[in-house]
Amino acid sequence: MNKKTIRDVDASGRRVLVRVDFNVPMEDGAITDDTRIRAALPTINYLREQGAVVILCAHLGRPKGNRVPEESLQPTADRLAELMESPVAFVDDCIGELVAQAVAAASPGDVILLENTRFYPGEESNDKAEMLAFAEQLAAPAQMYVNDAFGASHRKHASTYGVTKYLSPCVAGLLVEEELTKLQRVLDADRQGFVAVLGGAKVSDKIGVIEQLLPRVERLLIGGAMAWAFFKAQGMEIGESLCSEENVAGARGILDTMSDYLGNMALPLDVHMKNLESGATKYVPADGIEPGWDALDIGPETRAHYATIVKQAQTVFWNGPMGYFEEPPFDEGTLAVARAMGDCSGYNVVGGGDSVAAITQMGLAEQMDHVSTGGGASLEFIENNGSLPAVEALDSKE
Ligand code: 3PG
Repeated sequence: MNKKTIRDVDASGRRVLVRVDFNVPMEDGAITDDTRIRAALPTINYLREQGAVVILCAHLGRPKGNRVPEESLQPTADRLAELMESPVAFVDDCIGELVAQAVAAASPGDVILLENTRFYPGEESNDKAEMLAFAEQLAAPAQMYVNDAFGASHRKHASTYGVTKYLSPCVAGLLVEEELTKLQRVLDADRQGFVAVLGGAKVSDKIGVIEQLLPRVERLLIGGAMAWAFFKAQGMEIGESLCSEENVAGARGILDTMSDYLGNMALPLDVHMKNLESGATKYVPADGIEPGWDALDIGPETRAHYATIVKQAQTVFWNGPMGYFEEPPFDEGTLAVARAMGDCSGYNVVGGGDSVAAITQMGLAEQMDHVSTGGGASLEFIENNGSLPAVEALDSKE
């Protein structure tokens, strides 16, 4: 990695603003998965041991510049304190007097967590002056900056990007370093034996990733609702299956512009579909979807085909479910890919979101070489050939 990390600088006795990704799933105010908080611990502990005052900032949800109590970071402060077995001072704001007071009262090794940065419109503002004005306030109490929010590093926001204009040095945390190193290995993989599995609903979100991956892989396996867009773009019947015109246009664009590489791409051979009126379900070949039916998962032939390819891969990257994972039995395709990932002895990486949930549900996380904490960020890393705006803004190694 050509960016400086916390190991390249001396943080002792300094006030360090650390951007973390604590955008964790919550239900009724309780955290349902604390993976992202755990993932930030190595950096937080490293800085504490150095004697830094650690000022954490993060976003939660999409409150769009409003103070939304349900999207307070308070529960994450409580969870972090439990995990560290040490107090965390939560500040009910992320800029201004309250923050200045908390920082002034802190001793070396103390940890402060600031309230949700997205409670201020400046955090995500498209107006650069407004974004930078907020970033300057966020940076004010600190003397240096650490980005450890891999999952938010595709966002050019005040807390991930703007603050780098006001603080120096600006370096990567240990999670960001690990994510970049492990994902770079995917990008550097030999074409022979390199398999990518992409699922989920939207082709439009993944066009750039497909364009980047298709020439680089031996096989690109497509699943999930985006497969129906490819079917429709080829004039096939998809019944009532989830599919927007935008996605069909995206699929058509790939089919038209990447004809040299379409041999690398695999679409489902069969599907598991449901009758919207009767609720009956059945498996049919890909060209057997009928009006009134909704394709919700890949079928058994596709499961077996994809599993064989994944198991034999030298390098495999997976992002996105193969079907309507939330509603069994339409989770079968996704679980089959998860199982095959576990059986693959090559370099296996899961890139965030529902695919991580499937891997975790099956107890296979330990068998992965890497489970990314960032869904959108890992896709954008691949789409941009290894570059993310919040990482580019950090200091380079000499
Ligand atoms: C994520 O959950 O993928 C990151 O925290 C980024 O969140 P965002 O998509 O709301 O910017």
